[in-house]
Amino acid sequence: METTHRIFFQNSNDMSALSPASVDLVVTSPPYPMIQMWDEVFIDLNPAIRKALADQRGMAAFEMMHKELDCVWEEVLRLLKFGGLACINIGDATRTIGNDFMLYPNHSRILAKMLDIGFSALPEILWRKQTNAPNKFMGSGMLPAGAYVTLEHEHILILRKGPKREFRSAIEKRIRRESAIFWEERNAWYSDVWFDLKGTTQKMATDDVRHRSAAFPFEIPYRLINMFSVKEDRVLDPFLGTGTTMLAAIAAGRHSNGFEIEPDFRKANLSGLTEVKELAKVKTANRLDNHMAFVNQRYASGSKLKYRNKHYGFPVMTNQETELLFNTLESIAETGDNTFKVCYCDKPQEKYVTDQEGSKRLKFFSCLDDNKPEAEPSPKKNIQRRLFD
Ligand SMILES: C[S@@+](CC[C@H](N)C(=O)[O-])C[C@H]1O[C@@H](n2cnc3c(N)ncnc32)[C@H](O)[C@@H]1O
Repeated sequence: METTHRIFFQNSNDMSALSPASVDLVVTSPPYPMIQMWDEVFIDLNPAIRKALADQRGMAAFEMMHKELDCVWEEVLRLLKFGGLACINIGDATRTIGNDFMLYPNHSRILAKMLDIGFSALPEILWRKQTNAPNKFMGSGMLPAGAYVTLEHEHILILRKGPKREFRSAIEKRIRRESAIFWEERNAWYSDVWFDLKGTTQKMATDDVRHRSAAFPFEIPYRLINMFSVKEDRVLDPFLGTGTTMLAAIAAGRHSNGFEIEPDFRKANLSGLTEVKELAKVKTANRLDNHMAFVNQRYASGSKLKYRNKHYGFPVMTNQETELLFNTLESIAETGDNTFKVCYCDKPQEKYVTDQEGSKRLKFFSCLDDNKPEAEPSPKKNIQRRLFD
């Protein structure tokens, strides 16, 4: 398998470099309107915003900033295929303008725009940010009624263009099945609140770039890409920043494009690309190790798993996981102007193949051949099994 990736250092309000209906999934995090660190970026796009802020017209500035993002959402609509999805990570802002402290609800403003231009909303995810100061408070402290709730979460809006995607041909069906995620991952990833995300691990080229990046944790685009696209799909990030979405797309075996207005980010993008091979290897190994731990735990508690994965031979919970296959990233090369080609191995990682030799290394395998009766599944478990078989 091969994938290609290209970065455009330009404003994403014009993405005419890409063909209409050429993108399967958008994963992005725009600059957040009314968060001070992004003021200058918006002011560069529309200088009238400076005057609105100086005149203490907070809502007018908020609206002008969103008008700049609106043009990008319209481009996203043009570029997505029918059935394609957009996942937008966005936090609300709190700010005092003059004497007026208030919430600027970025997520609902973006959602309203997306619905207005024809997207359908799907259930969204909230992710809980790790805060360094859990006890910090805003407003009147212990005295009612002027104390304010602390914002400790961000939203991931999930929107679809047109009707549900279909997988019709035999090849499409095979790729979809090879792109499956594990049953136990599904239970955590499709929860509507993510509590377990750690801060970013991105290494930045310069302190200034780090300060301006607001990179999201790798796990966010990695999960979203695995949840809402299949291998060899095209993923777009119109606000690429340090390139986290592109790294996640590479690790997950998807093609990708990114737009970034700030050319200073090139150095950070390139440094991420030199590390992505190792990052992808570790990520795949972690997922497989976690699956092994899950299997061992099931067998230790006396439950068996009904199915075997056909590439690895290890047990899996449902029929849908029987063709799941991770492709090891083998090489990455720059092939042109900010364009990269990635090659992958199409064979399963040997260490995890439970053939005669490999099986001896895996603890759970010893449990496979004993004759412990499978624990009686509860009625709830039966329903779950039926849904996924
Ligand atoms: C919140 S950051 C994205 C961070 C990114 N998710 C990461 O992990 O590094 C938003 C990025 O969008 C860029 N940006 C802002 N307006 C833009 C525009 N109109 N076109 C392209 N990039 C833009 C900013 O320079 C910034 O890097």
